[in-house]
Formats: sequence, C-alpha cells, structure tokens
Amino acid sequence: MPNKDNVQIAPAEGKLGVLIPGMGAVTTTFIAGLEAFKRGLGKPIGSLTQLGTIRLGKRTEGRSPAIKDFVPLAKMEDIEVGCWDIFNDNAYEAAVKAGVLEPALLEQLKEPLSAIRPMKAVFDQKFVKRINGPNVKTGGTKMDYAQAVMEDICQFKKRTGVSRTVMIWCGSTEVYHEAAPVHATLESFEDGLRNDDPEISPSQIYAYAALKSGVPYANGAPHLTTDMPALMDLARNMNLPVCGKDYKSGQTFMKTLIAPGLKSRLLGLSGWFSTNILGNRDGEVLDEPGSFRSKEVSKSSALEYILQGDLYPDLYKHFYHKVRIEYYPPRGDAKEGWDNIDIFGWLGYPMQIKINFLCRDSILAAPLVLDIVLFMDLAQRAGMRGIQEWLSFYFKAPMHAPELYPEHDIFIQLMKLKNTLRYMQGEDLITHLGLEYYD
Ligand SMILES: NC(=O)c1ccc[n+]([C@@H]2O[C@H](COP(=O)([O-])OP(=O)(O)OC[C@H]3O[C@@H](n4cnc5c(N)ncnc54)[C@H](O)[C@@H]3O)[C@@H](O)[C@H]2O)c1
Repeated sequence: MPNKDNVQIAPAEGKLGVLIPGMGAVTTTFIAGLEAFKRGLGKPIGSLTQLGTIRLGKRTEGRSPAIKDFVPLAKMEDIEVGCWDIFNDNAYEAAVKAGVLEPALLEQLKEPLSAIRPMKAVFDQKFVKRINGPNVKTGGTKMDYAQAVMEDICQFKKRTGVSRTVMIWCGSTEVYHEAAPVHATLESFEDGLRNDDPEISPSQIYAYAALKSGVPYANGAPHLTTDMPALMDLARNMNLPVCGKDYKSGQTFMKTLIAPGLKSRLLGLSGWFSTNILGNRDGEVLDEPGSFRSKEVSKSSALEYILQGDLYPDLYKHFYHKVRIEYYPPRGDAKEGWDNIDIFGWLGYPMQIKINFLCRDSILAAPLVLDIVLFMDLAQRAGMRGIQEWLSFYFKAPMHAPELYPEHDIFIQLMKLKNTLRYMQGEDLITHLGLEYYD
C-alpha cells in the first residue's frame, strides 16, 4: 500500500511551455481554447484535469475533490505555447483556415493568436506526401535538424521564461514505417542522424531533440515515433516520460465505450464496420495510402484486445472488422462516423446496432491535448520515466511494455489513471470491492 511519502512531486512553480510540432486544426483549437478560457469566453469541456473529480477513501466519507486540487497540476493560464509548422501562417490565420471555430470567437482572440508564429519545421515529404510548405529547415543533415530543434527549444525557453516544457505531436500523420536496424540502439540512431538514414522520420527528429533537451514527449498521431529501443533508451536515461499514440477522440472512443459493454453481457460479435467522412487537412493527408496505413493499424487493434477472442472463441474469435476513412472536403472538421455492429445473443439470434456520430474532430481532441500535457508535466515532476501506461485513456493505440498487451477498455483505463493519481498522493487505491459496507 502506498504511504504519504512514497512519491515526491516537485511543485508546479512558474510557467509550463507546451511545444507542438504541427499548428493545424487540433493545435489552433487547443490554443484558442486556452485564450478563450483566460478571457472567460469558454469552458474547458471534455477535460478531465479541469472538470473531473476523484473519489478518495470509502463511499461514506464524501471526499471527492477536483482532480486539479488533488494533484499539483500547472494552471491553464500558466501555459505558453510554441509551435513548428511547414506553413508560415500565424495561429490566428491557421485557425481561420482550419475552420473549426466561429469567426466571431476568433476575432476576439486575434491578438494573442496572431502573436504565435510557427518556427521552421523539420519536414520530409517522403513521410507526409499530400502537403508541402515553405517554412522548413533546409541544407543540413538530420543531426543538424535535431540540433536546430534543440536550439529552437532553448530560444523558446529564454523568450517565454517557462520553467518546464512538454512536447506533444499534433503534426500530420506520417507514412507507416516499422522499426528498422537504425532504431535498435541510441548509438545506431545517432549515426543514422549524421548519415541521413532514410528510415528516420521528422517526428523522430523532434522526439530526439526533445528528449535530449530534457523535455517529455507525447505522440498524438498514429505513426511510430518513440516506439523503438533507441528513443525509449534515451527517455529512460534522461528520466523522462513518454506516451502515445493517436488521440482517442471520435470513432475509436465510441468503440471502446461499446465493446466493453457487449463483452460484459457476453453478447457475441460477428462484424463491425466503421466508416468516416472528413474534409479537413488531416483527412487529406489520410487519403494517401501510407498515412492511412498508420491510422488503420492504430484503429484496428482496440476491438481484438478488448474482446479477447482467444478467451471467448464462441463470441469473438471470428468477427469481421473493417475501418474506412473517406476524404470529403465539404464537411471540413465536422466529421461524420457510421458504425454498423452485427451482434448475436441467446441461441445465436442476430441483432444490429447503428451509431451515427456527428462529431467535431478538433473539438474532441483539444481537451485531450490539454490533459496529456498537464499529466506529462506532473509525471516528470513526480520522477516517472519511460512509457506512461496510465495515460492509455487518451490514446487509440496506447504504448505499453513489450511483454504486456495494451489496455483499451476505457473504463479500466480511467480506473488506472485515477488509481495512479491516488498512488502518487499516498491515498488508498480503489478496488470497488465494497464488502466493508455490508459487514
Ligand atoms: N480528433 C482529432 O482531430 C485527431 C484524433 C486522433 C489523431 N489526430 C492526429 O493529430 C494530428 C493533427 O490533426 P489536425 O486535424 O490538427 O491536422 P492538420 O492537418 O490540421 O494539422 C497538422 C499540421 O501539421 C503540419 N505538419 C506536418 N508535418 C509537419 C512537420 N514535420 N513539422 C511541423 N509541422 C508539420 C501541417 O502543415 C499541418 O498544419 C494528425 O496526425 C491527426 O491524425 C487527430
């Protein structure tokens, strides 16, 4: 059992720098949300760190503080954001182009948003094929670019006076690449940076620069970045937390709500067909087969892990699972997802569930960005290093230790997250056993 002294957490003093490669729809919606909140123009709906509570002790004790009062988190108003993007637009212009937020709201936030200008990006079109832009670092090796990002981080810290920083990827989804020999050790990776190894992606250059600079790294996209020994070793050596991958915001969020429920009642599944239309830049990038492959892999595994076909062969061994994403420009960021779920019950009788989720991609993702950066900063101050499995709650393809299967069930993920907070603060973990109330 934990005791009050088992985790020492440094206080959240000073400002928190949030460094973001990619200043598109999600990032600008996140930044606009911070500024709107500061001015009383909006509430951080969807954010566990801002609106969630945590029950402590027995149900009879009536102790349910706000999470932000229970653990020492940085305050929203203490966040300073710095971004990189391949386009020159400032955050106001990028937000207008992303078309997520109403022009009237953006007008009120024009001044602070216009002040955020993207730093020059590390970019390689082999990894993101559908877009190209002028605001990129050129003329160096991959190691030169990594050093340039480290210099950007240094300058950002000086300019803003932040005392701590976290990096979170909100850039486009890169083409699917598995780990190659260059990713085997930190030494081979650094050689690869010097020799421009084609297997090293831009996101890995940012992650390397972040970790070398003592900055935790979170991956909001589905491609593999720190999921390889070289960067994991670096994170551990530097005592830094990492987490990812791919924000669990829309259709997979729904999937991980429904699937545990079907399984809890032992209702069988014969097929799950998911399709989406979306028309933002993310949709355009995902229209390219290599980037779609990254998304497909990240979206595919949740059901298999939740339903455990090996343990329940009659119910879940042979279901057909298909995921489609269609780029459809008229919808912009207002994504529409359809799920057709073929299930069966008593004596094998078939039934169907249809879900039609008319959502807003970036409105769902922005609070996740906020929570992840605040919890990663907390993790760092609490001395937690390597994969932060307790943040699986936020991701479609949670990073996990090689010998474990990932936990996808959102209710287990939330319990794990809250128990981690209780553990950090020396409170009893909650098992939901409850026998003590009936002694
Ligand atoms: N609900 C969601 O919106 C959601 C959910 C899960 C994952 N994601 C992922 O989050 C990421 C961001 O989504 P978005 O809707 O904001 O996309 P977006 O296309 O609007 O923004 C991505 C930005 O990244 C920039 N970029 C690309 N490569 C870069 C690089 N190497 N360095 C710096 N900038 C770079 C692009 O120019 C673009 O402005 C995507 O990878 C997406 O798949 C989003």
